[in-house]
Amino acid sequence: FHVDWDIVTAEKAGYAHFMLKEIHEQPKAYRDTMGSRIDAAGGKIIFNELKLTPEQIHKIDRVHIVACGTAYHAGLIGKNAIERLARIPVEIDVASEYRYRSPIITPQTLVIVVSQSGETADTLAALREAKRCGATVLAITNVVGSTVAREADDCIITWAGPEIAVASTKAYSSQLIAFYLFSLYLAQVKKTQSSEYITEVITALRALPEQVETILGQFEQIKNFAEEISTHSDLFFIGRGMDYAVAQEGSLKLKEISYIHSEAYAAGELKHGTLALIEEGVPVIALATQEDLFEKTVSNIKEVKARGANVLGISAEDEHEMIKSVDQHFAIPKTLGLLTPALSVIPLQLLAYYASLALGNDVDKPRNLAKSVTVE
Ligand code: G6P
Repeated sequence: FHVDWDIVTAEKAGYAHFMLKEIHEQPKAYRDTMGSRIDAAGGKIIFNELKLTPEQIHKIDRVHIVACGTAYHAGLIGKNAIERLARIPVEIDVASEYRYRSPIITPQTLVIVVSQSGETADTLAALREAKRCGATVLAITNVVGSTVAREADDCIITWAGPEIAVASTKAYSSQLIAFYLFSLYLAQVKKTQSSEYITEVITALRALPEQVETILGQFEQIKNFAEEISTHSDLFFIGRGMDYAVAQEGSLKLKEISYIHSEAYAAGELKHGTLALIEEGVPVIALATQEDLFEKTVSNIKEVKARGANVLGISAEDEHEMIKSVDQHFAIPKTLGLLTPALSVIPLQLLAYYASLALGNDVDKPRNLAKSVTVE
């Protein structure tokens, strides 16, 4: 009796690729990142690991978020969460741009660097510049003991576990969870939100892992759409607000592993130029998960439909107006608008995965890319 196996196959735990395994590990990553940071009663955020004191938090007058690639996209959601919940103004930059625009950094600035690996050279350089200017630096990273973790004043570890696939999935989504927790913590300390509302958000956060499982169970629908679009050379992702931020991550994921050109566009901005590129059959992935922006996004969907686009719409299950307006619809379970990115990114990860698979690419090791870029 002979069993063929090697360490790599064993580590994939039955999944065809690390990326697929890591996509499926997200419910666990969410639970682990929340872990002991929520009190037993589910009404309070606890950050025992932070050195940042409530007195320091009260003095913070601006936040800068700095990161690269996928981590930057998590930062876009982080900016939204911090501004909404804690009412502190947030600026966000890609790390390779940050230092060169002479950002205004003072001792009252909290600089949050986000890095899965904790070793990205551009991010590290930004961290050092921020410290040199006297800011407090908080790192959100997945690697305990990484350079970013060691050099930052404070650190929030995302407990996503090792991520092997070059295209980041569970690290991104657990960065979102870390941002939600930290934003809630700021709101709790600064009393910018009522304790009832904080409890409501925490309850919704705790429901996310199971909701991700529901989405993962519906992978066939995304797989079919991925196969359909894999023969196209261009496509578009559109959305407003948080949906626009998720669209950018979806577009990056698709480019990284399928090599299909795609652009993410703020849905309302399409008419100012990009609409010229929409013609018969062009695939458009439209996200409309934000209640306050829903009507507006649906009217943008109608604009692309009128020009022949083949639209996959992503929204909550009961949005009949949306379902009527698109060619195919993918439903995500209901949650708070603020938290939808932690759900809506999942079908986009699956889309990139199955498109790459359909094209016969090396899903886990895309051409020209490295998991961690340690040169500037
Ligand atoms: C590389 C990877 C990306 C990643 C980026 C930032 O370019 O290919 O997937 O998002 O680095 O990595 P970090 O480890 O800092 O999050």
